[in-house]
This record gives sequence, C-alpha cells and structure tokens, in this order.
Amino acid sequence: MKGLKFDFNNMFGSNVGKEHGVEETELNALSYSVKEAHEHLVSVLADSRNRVSLGLEWTRLPFQDKKEIKIIQKLGDEIAKKYENVISLGIGGSYLGLKAAQDALCSPYYNEFAGARNGRPRIYFEGNNLDPHTLSVLLKNLNPKKTFVIVISKSGETTETRTAFIAVENWLKKSAGRNYGRQIFAITDPQSGSLRKIVDERQKKDKLSFRNLPLIKGVGGRFSEFNMGLLHLAIIGVDIQKVLNGAADMHKRCSSPDLFKNPAYMYAALHTILYRMKGKDIAIVMPFSETLKSTADWYIQMLAESLGKKYARKIIKARDGREEWINDTGRVVNVGRTPIPARGTNDLHSIQQNNIEGMNNKAVTFIRVEKFNSEIKVPAGGESGILAGKRFSEMITLAQEATEWALVRESRPSCTIIMPEASAYNWGALLFFFEMATAFEGELLGVNAFDQPGVEGYKNYMYYKLGKSGLSEKVADEIKNNPLLKDPKFIL
Ligand code: PA5
Repeated sequence: MKGLKFDFNNMFGSNVGKEHGVEETELNALSYSVKEAHEHLVSVLADSRNRVSLGLEWTRLPFQDKKEIKIIQKLGDEIAKKYENVISLGIGGSYLGLKAAQDALCSPYYNEFAGARNGRPRIYFEGNNLDPHTLSVLLKNLNPKKTFVIVISKSGETTETRTAFIAVENWLKKSAGRNYGRQIFAITDPQSGSLRKIVDERQKKDKLSFRNLPLIKGVGGRFSEFNMGLLHLAIIGVDIQKVLNGAADMHKRCSSPDLFKNPAYMYAALHTILYRMKGKDIAIVMPFSETLKSTADWYIQMLAESLGKKYARKIIKARDGREEWINDTGRVVNVGRTPIPARGTNDLHSIQQNNIEGMNNKAVTFIRVEKFNSEIKVPAGGESGILAGKRFSEMITLAQEATEWALVRESRPSCTIIMPEASAYNWGALLFFFEMATAFEGELLGVNAFDQPGVEGYKNYMYYKLGKSGLSEKVADEIKNNPLLKDPKFIL
C-alpha cells in the first residue's frame, strides 16, 4: 500500500484482553453510528455553504490551484534568498503546524548550521507565549535589516500574537528604516479583524509593505496548516505540492464508508469504543522519532480543542439542506480524551512507567518511521559488544516494538501509524489522517469539532482586566462578581 499504514492489532481484546481492548462484536455494534456519521459528513461536505459556515472547508485544501501554489513557492524562495532570519508570529493553529512541518521536514539543527539549512533563513517562532524572556533576547540579538517577519492570526485579536507583533513592528521600524513594512508579511482574515485593519492602513501608505495572503473562508485555525502554513513551507524549502499530494491521497482513503478501508474512521471508531466502554480517556501520542515530536504537539491541540467539549451539538437543518450547529446548553456532556504528547525513545525513561503500571486508562498511538533520512551505526570493537554494527534505525524500531510488547503484556491498548519515511508526501498524509479522524470522532461523540468556546474564559478575563472595550455587560459582570478567592491560610 502506498503511503501510511495503520496497524490496530493491539487495540483488540484478542491481544490485550476484552476488559481493555475492543471486541469485534463491539465494533460491529458501532456500525450503525459509523454509517450515520459517514452519511452526515458526506452530506455536509457536499454542500459548499455548509463547508464554509460550519468550518469544514479544510477538506478542500489538498486540492488547491497548482498555479497559486507555485506562486507561493516562488515567493518563499525570494524571501529565503534575501533574508538571513525569519520571525514567525502566531499561536495555536497559527503556529503548531508550522513548527511541526519544520521539525519533520527540515534537517535537525536547522537553525544552528548553515549546511543543515541549505542556505535558507533561520526561523524563530514567537508570539506563542507571553513569556517576555524569549522575545527580548531574540530582538537583542537579531539584525533587523536581515530579518523578515511573518505575522499569522486569523482573528487578528489574539493577545499573544498581537502583543509580540506590536513589539516586533516597533523594533523593525526603529532600525530597518522607512520601508520597514516591506519586511512584514501578514496572513489573516481577508475582511475582518484588527490585523486586517493594520494591513489595509499600512498598504494605503506604501503598496509594497505588509504584503499578505488571505486565509480561506471556512477553515478553522487548527485545521489550516495547508493554508496558513504554506508560505513558511516555501521559505524553508519544502515542496508544497508534495505535501498536498499526500493529503489528497489520504483524503481519498478517508472517504470510504468501510471502516476496514478507511484508516481515519477506524482510528476514531476504535478510540471511541475504548473511551466510552473501557475507560481509556487518556491519549498518549508517541512518535518514535525526535523530529515528529512537534507533529504530536500539533495533534494534541487538534484533539483537545476539537473534542474536549462541555455541550452536545444540536443540528438544525433547514429545508434547503443548510445546517446550523449549536451547542445545546441543556445537554452537558463534558467529553473528550485527554491527549498527552510523548516521544520515543526519550520518554521510555519517563512517562512509560506510568503507561505500563499506572492506571489502565490510556490508549497509546505510536508513530513509527521505517526509513530515516540519515543513518548511523555503532562501530565494531571496543566496548560495543552486542551493539557492534547495529544501525540506530534498527535500534529505535526494536525499541518501539518492545514498547508495544510491554504494553500488551500489561493489557494496555495501543496502535501504530507506520510512515515509510518522513517525507513531505507522508507528512501531508499524516496531518490529513489526524484531521479526518478528529472530525469523525467528533461525529461519533456528537459534539462540534470545529469550535473552541472553552478558550474564551481566560481571554475574557484578560480583556476585562486590560479594559478592552466591547466586552459584553454579562461577561464583565460575571468576572466582576466572581473574583478569584485567595485565602492567605492556603498559601505557604
Ligand atoms: O484552532 C484554533 O482556531 C485556535 O487554536 C487558533 O488557531 C488560535 O487561537 C490562534 O488564533 P488566531 O489565528 O486567530 O490568532
């Protein structure tokens, strides 16, 4: 089979015992829900109005116009030639996909060695934390004249990104001269938000400044790597079309109604059974690869923000087929598996103890790479002993197999996504697989996988304290009337 493989043997009771694994009868019993979920997804995806209004337009991203992709690829090459450094500002969906791509598809130690970068710029990710230390050290050390800035924010309102952007713009303005805006590129909503407003204003003064790419309507932040991440891919020298081809082929595989042909549906169905019926509410995501750790981090956001939900979804269907999804405040469900990123083999000396002997409430997803981009062998002689002549890739593969075995012995379910190699094609396929699996798991759980109302609480509190205008009276009153209670006797 071309591309990724999904091995789910160890999710079954036959391997880990029926108390902790899925029984084929349980999978069969889910078939009605699977069929319903599939038919619902198909009907929503067939209607572009629904795709856009409900946030499912990401399913079309693998099929973007090849000419447009070439233009972005060229633009990335131009920026790469001209600048030594790029600061990429963004958080959540406007950051994690980019970081994941860079770690997976560029050489390790990319920023450290010119040879590892193939002459491309160093990339620094900022605007993803309010920690003042990292940005201030970065700005003290970078040469603004040799630095290009990309600011990514769909809403333009996100505090972390906005704050960093104001600081970085000011830094550029002071040192890079009058045309500093030509060193800034914005990726944001085509119409709304404060970043769009800034772009439009700055462009009025200088057409060449604040160049920008509009985000595609109906694509939510965490589902948007194949949209907002494209310029970054081009700058670091990744062939964008190969990434999209991988995603497109996975799209095809994930369109089948048959669980045994559709890896994303199977992944979602098995996890739903383990979660609902066997108490596996912790999802450990463990690539056996240093460079795929940030891809696990990307999936953590995908799973947590998409499926960790308080309310059930209520579907309101109009006669013309349009759907509206609302969170049914009368049906509190508080669902969602809790994802935890880990990394083989590092975390075999850490979280693995708990995976094996702690509460049996976890399902582990391994990602195994079959062919690494470099190899190293243990030299023969000296102290090498049984390790003499062993390839590191053999050893990491053996460690992954050994971890599976150890989990099975303790009746702990796991599954493995096998990547023939960490190529642009396979990485695109991997992301699309996780996106589709998440969408389908959302259908099976009956929640809206494409919103994230839970993150508003902290934002509103900050806005209230910062005196932001436009906060509703209800929200302001709630914050005012419910201050955090701090009794000194509980602080030592
Ligand atoms: O998935 C999401 O929508 C979020 O995680 C956003 O990506 C994140 O909050 C950043 O938002 P924005 O791009 O509007 O700054």
